[in-house]
Amino acid sequence: MTKVIHKINQEVYSEDTCLIPTMGSLHKGHTTLFEQAKATPHAKIIVSIFVNRKQFNDKKDFDNYPIDIDNDIKLLEKVNVDYIFIPDESYIYPNKKILDVSSGAIGMQYEGKYREGHFDGVLTVVNRLFELINPSAAIFGRKDAQQLFLIKEMVNQFKKNIKIYEGKLIRETSGLAMSSRNLLLSDEAKKNASNIYKILLNTKNFYQNSKSISKSVSHGKTLFEKMEISYDYLDIVDVNSFRTPDKNTEKLLLITAGYVENIRLIDNLEI
Ligand code: PAF
Repeated sequence: MTKVIHKINQEVYSEDTCLIPTMGSLHKGHTTLFEQAKATPHAKIIVSIFVNRKQFNDKKDFDNYPIDIDNDIKLLEKVNVDYIFIPDESYIYPNKKILDVSSGAIGMQYEGKYREGHFDGVLTVVNRLFELINPSAAIFGRKDAQQLFLIKEMVNQFKKNIKIYEGKLIRETSGLAMSSRNLLLSDEAKKNASNIYKILLNTKNFYQNSKSISKSVSHGKTLFEKMEISYDYLDIVDVNSFRTPDKNTEKLLLITAGYVENIRLIDNLEI
């Protein structure tokens, strides 16, 4: 039986839980995370739904963020998670001082460069959720690769005993990475948005033939320009440091953020 809770009691705090933090407007990409959570050895699954004002640098973006709590609850009951945690803002951010986490230098690049303070807000809320819930594990999707990297760094830095699982990146059949923001796109825009994935695939292919990071990055940017899709960045980073790859790099990640109908879409591909 799924329970909807608004506060964490001692029972939930002391259980062996796997947490999936979300901002709601759940879609198939999330469902995969819930299924993945059920396959972990943890006794209970808890899904939080909280649209975190602190991670939006643009008030309009926060105000427009899609919310559909009734639908989310229905979906979570169907998947049969144990708890749906829907806190009030005053419970997450009470008047008493809570720790403001800084995302450091990496948090100011890529997503952080274009969304100032975004990752400080993400890490602050995730740390707060960890403190309130005391989970044994948590799952974060690979689509938000920089977020996943920074959360793992925070867990290491704060020496938290929480296992971080990586959730799969799920795509529509068109290749468009699933995201709650896709709900804001028209059908026409969705078609156009799938070109972002095509650009990643083409750039990956270019890299595999050229083995040149700089040429592949320029190639990818040219494709954005040819397709008349505006973008904030396209780059290749070391997946384990989120920095420019060097001779010790084992895995490369191609990352990008583009705009379709003024909706900001991020995507990435291992190359
Ligand atoms: O990825 C998200 O949906 C959010 O950034 C998260 C992790 C739930 C924190 O608000």
